[in-house]
Amino acid sequence: MTDLQATLRFQLRRKTADLHHRLDTRIGAFRTRADYGCYLRSAELFRRLAEPELAAATERGWFGDWRPGLVHDALLADLDDCGLAPAPHVERIIPFEDPAQAWGALYVAEGASLGAIILLQRAEAIGCSASLGARHLAAQAQRSTPWPRFTALLDSRTDLDSERMVDGARLMFVAALACFAPTSACSEPVKTVAAIA
Ligand code: HEM
Repeated sequence: MTDLQATLRFQLRRKTADLHHRLDTRIGAFRTRADYGCYLRSAELFRRLAEPELAAATERGWFGDWRPGLVHDALLADLDDCGLAPAPHVERIIPFEDPAQAWGALYVAEGASLGAIILLQRAEAIGCSASLGARHLAAQAQRSTPWPRFTALLDSRTDLDSERMVDGARLMFVAALACFAPTSACSEPVKTVAAIA
């Protein structure tokens, strides 16, 4: 294994690759507006659950000077652009118990900006844009610029338990998978999202 592959970032990438693959497959290509609407409702649900936890961890000083990219407001605007209502409220949220777990979760939230570049192109192909329906993807895609700075910071946190970071990252991916499940945000009625706790 090279030094690069031994970094925290690459450990996280390797140990969450199965979940990332499942999420990619679940989100799919959204070739139609109906598909995109379903994606939007799922994404809003996910960010509604995750972002308050990221904000709370920030307030506790767990991320130092790093400020997570928050796109929930942009997602609400995107839903509004598309004439869609948010998916019903879910009670359960993702609790981050310690800085290591929170950093693992943050890795997933920030890494989503890389996939957003691809998703933005797909959204543009069906008529959305940075000012209509795909505001959150444009905002996330822009965050791919600070990604190298983020991974450098992540890799410097050798004081944190790496297995605990993996736990946090996997928990975040599992939460996303639950939100993107066809039964969560794309069919009515929805009462709870399973597997989030
Ligand atoms: C269809 C949807 C998605 C596609 C096509 C996609 C695609 C990608 C691609 C191409 C990368 C760059 C990989 C690399 O640099 O080697 C990436 C990275 C990443 N994505 Fe996704 N992604 C999607 C959705 C998501 C979502 C919803 C999340 C989080 C909830 C996510 C989390 C991540 C993370 C954490 C990374 C960083 C991996 C690394 O360390 O390089 N992705 N994604």
